[in-house]
Amino acid sequence: MPRLTSLSFLSVTAILANGVYGWGAMGHEAIGLIAQNYVTAATKTYMQGLLGSTSTTYLGDVAAWADTYRETTAGKFSAPYHFIDAEDSPPTACSVDFNRDCGSAGCVVAAISNYTSRIKDTKLSATERTNAVKFIVHFVGDIHQPLHDEALDVGGNTIAVKFDNKTTNLHSVWDTAIPEKIIGGGTLAYAQKWATALTASINTGTYASSKSSWLTGMNVSDATATAMVWARDTNALVCTKVIPDGPPTGQELDGAYYTSVVPTVEEQIAKAGYRLAAWLNLIATGSEGSKVKRDLSFQWEPISYLPEGYVNDGSPAKMARRAFGDMCH
Ligand SMILES: *[C@@H]1O[C@H](CO)[C@@H](O)[C@H](O)[C@H]1NC(C)=O
Ligand SMILES: *[C@@H]1O[C@H](CO)[C@@H](O)[C@H](O)[C@H]1NC(C)=O
Ligand SMILES: *[C@@H]1O[C@H](CO)[C@@H](O)[C@H](O)[C@H]1NC(C)=O
Repeated sequence: MPRLTSLSFLSVTAILANGVYGWGAMGHEAIGLIAQNYVTAATKTYMQGLLGSTSTTYLGDVAAWADTYRETTAGKFSAPYHFIDAEDSPPTACSVDFNRDCGSAGCVVAAISNYTSRIKDTKLSATERTNAVKFIVHFVGDIHQPLHDEALDVGGNTIAVKFDNKTTNLHSVWDTAIPEKIIGGGTLAYAQKWATALTASINTGTYASSKSSWLTGMNVSDATATAMVWARDTNALVCTKVIPDGPPTGQELDGAYYTSVVPTVEEQIAKAGYRLAAWLNLIATGSEGSKVKRDLSFQWEPISYLPEGYVNDGSPAKMARRAFGDMCH
């Protein structure tokens, strides 16, 4: 009987864990571990100092913290920081607009801006600055999951699908089922395995020639504009890769769909890790660092900001998200 109890407790815990994490914990850890390969020695010292950690997996270790924190009473305020609900019209037209899409409770773009400043704000307590590093590692991951940049059906949370014959939803399939199927499991050891493989692809493989273009548009003096570049780049994939034929409601995705999106999922994890490293280098040292390659030919697009007192909280998508408790399920 005690054994049965602990087993059912474990399976309930597993179901909950599966349900609430953006990129599952493993995807976030892989992003942190990839970034570790591209931060400079000075950045490593700076971040390890703020984290109070000399772990060999120091960015991987903290990458999923924000998902457990938002489940706590103290951390509930941060739930809307994990996504931006782009109110576009996929698969016909994808777009992100800061004014239209970032509600008054905040969004991942505003959060990346806020916590970028807070890492460097020496007036804050050590704990606040530690949390700021953990938030940045997590949110740079989240912004690279296409369904974290999409309002449709609460970011795909209410699109019921099957994966390996189990009923789930499209958001969860992208967060967890696909990444774990690609690499074989959900632990830190699998994250390390994935990070090693994707780092090789960045250095000399699939991404060797495209990686410098990943860093266009980065400006540490304008974190909002930088995060908007990442959000737009990622949101475009909703139209081209995630739901090119509209919501796959009721379909089994562990087949042709899975095969069609694996390259996109892997590139997003690699890109998030590489961009995170360059961003942490910029924060810690003011330069993107010698370990990354940057293409400076980027043309800036003007972005609009929320005017003082601006509120877009009444749209159907914003109301649906609030009714959903700002969570992934
Ligand atoms: C910035 O982060 C702090 C600490 O988590 C939070 O209290 C504050 O509301 C955030 N500000 C914005 C504009 O999101
Ligand atoms: C999928 O689930 C259905 C209903 O539970 C079952 O009848 C079917 O045999 C399952 N198929 C596979 C391939 O497991
Ligand atoms: C970076 O952002 C600052 C602040 O908005 C701006 O003044 C500067 O021109 C930007 N740099 C580039 C290269 O766009």
